[in-house]
Amino acid sequence: MPRTTSANDLYVGLMSGTSVDAIDAALVRFSPACDIVAWHSHPIPEQLRCGILELCQPGDNEIDRFGQLDVALGDLFAEATLALLDSAGVSADAVTAIGSHGQTVRHRPGEGGFSLQLGSADVISARTGIATVANFRNHDMVLGGQGAPLVPAFHASVFGLAGERRVVANIGGMANITVLDGDAVSGGYDTGPGNVLMDSWIYQQRGEHLDHNGEWAASGQCLDELLADMLTDDFIRRPAPKSTGREDFDAHWLARWPLEQSAPADVQATLLAFTARSLADAVNNAAADRLLVCGGGARNDTLMRALAALCNCPVTSTDDYGVPPEQVEAAAFAWLARARMAGAPGNAPAVTGANRAAVLGALYLP
Ligand SMILES: Nc1ncnc2c1ncn2[C@@H]1O[C@H](COP(=O)(O)OP(=O)(O)OP(=O)(O)O)[C@@H](O)[C@H]1O
Ligand SMILES: [Mg+2]
Repeated sequence: MPRTTSANDLYVGLMSGTSVDAIDAALVRFSPACDIVAWHSHPIPEQLRCGILELCQPGDNEIDRFGQLDVALGDLFAEATLALLDSAGVSADAVTAIGSHGQTVRHRPGEGGFSLQLGSADVISARTGIATVANFRNHDMVLGGQGAPLVPAFHASVFGLAGERRVVANIGGMANITVLDGDAVSGGYDTGPGNVLMDSWIYQQRGEHLDHNGEWAASGQCLDELLADMLTDDFIRRPAPKSTGREDFDAHWLARWPLEQSAPADVQATLLAFTARSLADAVNNAAADRLLVCGGGARNDTLMRALAALCNCPVTSTDDYGVPPEQVEAAAFAWLARARMAGAPGNAPAVTGANRAAVLGALYLP
């Protein structure tokens, strides 16, 4: 990628994923290696979180609700950025650009497909005084791609190693893999749910937002027949390229199964096994030499143990490769902002299925 003109080459990446757990903000220096200078996790107020989750499903008055949440979340993204810069002692004018993924409320890949994210980039750029790149997914979709996953090119730049076939798995709300042959992206796709079903079930049953370290799942027994049925899900069996979201896997998906008949901890164990099996099958199909795991799921010890047992290769967190797992996605959007400013492609057509590489994202000036 060509060098940009900034002396510091500092970028901010903002990510709020399908879990809607927090806004992750990373301040990244590319020199040209990726050096995460600072990281900040910004809370999302419960009322805003509920509004986002409601908008993830079809309902009344969507346009007005979208508009209002777009501005409110833009404000919160700006706040997260300013808090990040404050913690790092870096002024806004030292930053070349922000890459803001936004909060996905609809992702409909396929013919005539589109992807909609909340978090007004007009608000972010005006409030921070920093040029902001947003709407990364739709250009790839117009070119016939899934618009997702978009992190593979970044994974290649940071985690690729000559002579090794590495798979990088991001386990957020959904899970996706990148297949790397040396530092080239040779494949990747969304494998299915990451944490979303486990989060949803523990919230329904116990009012908690997450199963800390998978301890509740570890206290239950996997229901093998139920797991086998879940693994016949259309999305799981569909060939790549493919991408998913709350349209496919959410509380509504859980409601399709007769879960009330079983012990809740056994259901949680089964949901963890469903995430682990669908991901491990993809890793084994790719004949990976090594699996590197990032995203919040890397902090779930029970899930990591399940993956280690199922994968035919060593499994480690990206922590072992110098990048804490919860920082990878936000750093990827800093990288994508830099690519946009440099006029370099951001998508990996081998992953998204787009008919060509393309510069991604629209630029909003302060
Ligand atoms: N210590 C932990 N134990 C168990 N689960 C954890 C732990 N820490 C994080 N998680 C899980 O990770 C989730 C958050 O992960 P992450 O932020 O990567 O997902 P996301 O926001 O959906 O991102 P994306 O969709 O971009 O991948 C939480 O909702 C939770 O389920
Ligand atoms: Mg998150």
